[in-house]
Amino acid sequence: MSTETLEATARDLVAPVKGILAADESTGTIEKRLKSIDVESTGEARRSYREMLFTTPGLGDHISGVILYDETIRQSTRDGVPFTKVLEDAGAIPGIKVDLGAKPLAGAPGELVTEGLDGLRGRLEEYRELGARFTKWRAVIAIAGDRIPSSYCIHVNAHALGRYAALSQEAGLVPIVEPEVLMDGGHTLQRCYEVTEATLQSVFNELFSQRIVYEGMLLKPNMVISGKDCPEQASPEEVAKATIRCFRSVVPAAVPGIVFLSGGQGDEEATANLNAMNALGPHAWQLSFSYGRALQAPSLKAWAGSDANVEAGQQALAHRARMNGAARDGSYTAELEKELTAV
Ligand code: 13P
Repeated sequence: MSTETLEATARDLVAPVKGILAADESTGTIEKRLKSIDVESTGEARRSYREMLFTTPGLGDHISGVILYDETIRQSTRDGVPFTKVLEDAGAIPGIKVDLGAKPLAGAPGELVTEGLDGLRGRLEEYRELGARFTKWRAVIAIAGDRIPSSYCIHVNAHALGRYAALSQEAGLVPIVEPEVLMDGGHTLQRCYEVTEATLQSVFNELFSQRIVYEGMLLKPNMVISGKDCPEQASPEEVAKATIRCFRSVVPAAVPGIVFLSGGQGDEEATANLNAMNALGPHAWQLSFSYGRALQAPSLKAWAGSDANVEAGQQALAHRARMNGAARDGSYTAELEKELTAV
């Protein structure tokens, strides 16, 4: 394993004014997204949608890397150019989701554990040959009442994240370690703070014990935010202050970047929250984005499954990427949001 290569790739993924496009929806999740625009999830519909996203002119201006799914990393444009080549040519690094999804955790009703460690070493080898240079593994931590999450659930998920990250670095692929504390529920920002802090503490204990090179990884966490159904919704400034305070106490400064997930936040909300955090900088780590829904939602809607709308879909993606690029240095404003983005 070359540590220098891992470190250089990790740094490139959090380069200034750029962030990651998460386009690694599993077959079940992309089916739901396509259904929302009345498109049947055939292999060709999924391929066309991803081709529209990845061939966006100027994609690499604000997108440093794209997370693919097992089906997608094997696909090509209609003209036969592999997606991995399209992305590399655009200046975006191809990556791959390698977990096999969150399943019910035995003995812990309502909680989940992410599977996919069996055979992972062989799958990583194959993905590297297919062109991936980084990987992602998502663990899911729910909040419900006082008893969920259990320390059992946090521990087993953190342990799996450590196992995955070690294998990924061994294969020369930068691991993006994603412990997601869900925003579903009526909990307060304070409760999210406590659960996020406990989760990250456990994750970094495991990463340390399992000999992860911090300089060659990225963290993909939730922001510290009010539950979706909490009557009191925190402002971007409150989210920013709480998130930074929490992360300062548990995320080593040697980690080059924190790339947030959007987790169901509105797309402008996710941009405003990231902007507020960077406006409080400089910080020990680069604070960037690895958004799925918050980058894709307007693009999916504008495309609506029709070849005639490819340009409109690409324009919507380019706009969100540019807005989040501005949030990387705290220069996002309501006026900028209204400016058209040319493609
Ligand atoms: P969202 O930004 O839609 O949460 O997706 C990011 C992701 O990759 C979740 O695993």
